[in-house]
Amino acid sequence: MRFDRRGVALLATLSLLACAPADDRPAHADDPPVVADFRPGAAGIGDPDFPKDGNGGYDVSHYDLAVDYTPKTKRLEGQTTIQAAATQDLSSFNLDLAGYTVRQVTVNNAKATFGRAGDELTVTPAKPLGDRSRFTVKVDYSGQPEAALDSANLGTYGFIPTPDGAFVASEPNGSKTWFPNNDHPADKATFNFAITVPAGLTALANGELQGRPTTAEGKTTYRWRELHPMATYLATATLGKFDLRQGQTPGGIPELAAVDPKFKSGLDKLYKVSGEVTDYWSTVFGPYPFSSTGGIVDDYAAGYALENQTKPLYGGFEPDEVIMAHELAHQWFGNSLTIKRWKDLWLNEGFATYAEWLWQEHKGTKTAEAIFTEFHARPAGDPIWAYPPGRAKPTDLFNASVYTRGGMTLHALRKAIGDDTFFRLLKTWTAEHRYGHVTTEEFIDLAEQLSGKNLRPLFDAWLFQPHRPA
Ligand code: TRP
Ligand code: ZN
Repeated sequence: MRFDRRGVALLATLSLLACAPADDRPAHADDPPVVADFRPGAAGIGDPDFPKDGNGGYDVSHYDLAVDYTPKTKRLEGQTTIQAAATQDLSSFNLDLAGYTVRQVTVNNAKATFGRAGDELTVTPAKPLGDRSRFTVKVDYSGQPEAALDSANLGTYGFIPTPDGAFVASEPNGSKTWFPNNDHPADKATFNFAITVPAGLTALANGELQGRPTTAEGKTTYRWRELHPMATYLATATLGKFDLRQGQTPGGIPELAAVDPKFKSGLDKLYKVSGEVTDYWSTVFGPYPFSSTGGIVDDYAAGYALENQTKPLYGGFEPDEVIMAHELAHQWFGNSLTIKRWKDLWLNEGFATYAEWLWQEHKGTKTAEAIFTEFHARPAGDPIWAYPPGRAKPTDLFNASVYTRGGMTLHALRKAIGDDTFFRLLKTWTAEHRYGHVTTEEFIDLAEQLSGKNLRPLFDAWLFQPHRPA
């Protein structure tokens, strides 16, 4: 789902010009209609830092994922059905997919031809697709998943096999390691999941479980549904042995907590704190954007967590309150409001880091001011001052500066505009862009508009200068 339709009118005009009859005779009623200019969709969605991520020429509205995974053999059998709309006249288009054997691709139920090159799957439909037409793509594929490595110095990510199942955390571009898709946050969509696992295991995905899992011939299928637009990197199908606790937060939001049996003793805390944090953030950031909340602790020792939509995933450790506060703050900042380009990542990580400080302030452990002062005292030679967080670097996307200096930027802003305006700004920001896309420019504009102040120098010093702000 993309809401940005600029450029469509211009393209239409160009294609008309391109197809005008070569001679100069006047148009005649018997002339054939102007032929559309069918061209391949681009191999990337247009993020200059990640030129092959995502794809051009179409916009996905919905994914239907059927995934059958057998931990013993590490074999994944998948069928992905995609609902999309063309954003140009399309002769062919790409999906992102890493590894696997593709058995068949259909477009609107007709067999399509396809080719593979690197992580690009190129699909040529039997009939070209007119601009704005809606179409359905179905891809059958199978093989052993291979997790992604080091696209942004984070180690392994994507679909990661574990002894009893899989740990699935895909930021920034690892969802192509388990299903074909338009793998960039600029194209969000709703999701249905049907995940089949050996009976006795549990499969966890985003959103809410649809009915009871069904078991046949030793396999159980779990059906989940995420009704709200979601970036592909936030999709999960984490599966294995899990202990569950279900219910509602004190504020009435449906909740599910799940832990690998190794972390059984942490289940109640995960459940209780996730509920408490979700309710508290709803008072600070505005209404909770999704239909359920919770968290998953799996025994894959990632050492990090990911804010998977509705179910943050913690990798191999018992999360403390502050990390839960971080991952659940992402439900607003990153998941409901999603960046269009990876360079704006501080809009996710700076906000989630600042939420850690706000949580500590709320609990009376430490004020945000005290935390800010500590970081500001770091010597001029500290690497966070050399890395301007307002422009995340593709080779070092998740640099500590994007988190810490990003969070400091918000504290500096809060001091400049005062608590009333600052907290009104946070709620206005989340309300205006709920389920949509955001840029740094838009945030600066809104901050200036609500405060009536010129904030350019502040944002410039904190986000864009390679040295410590005064
Ligand atoms: N967004 C995560 C956080 O700050 C960090 C992260 C990025 C991550 N990519 C990941 C975690 C991949 C797990 C897997 O909480
Ligand atoms: Zn984060």
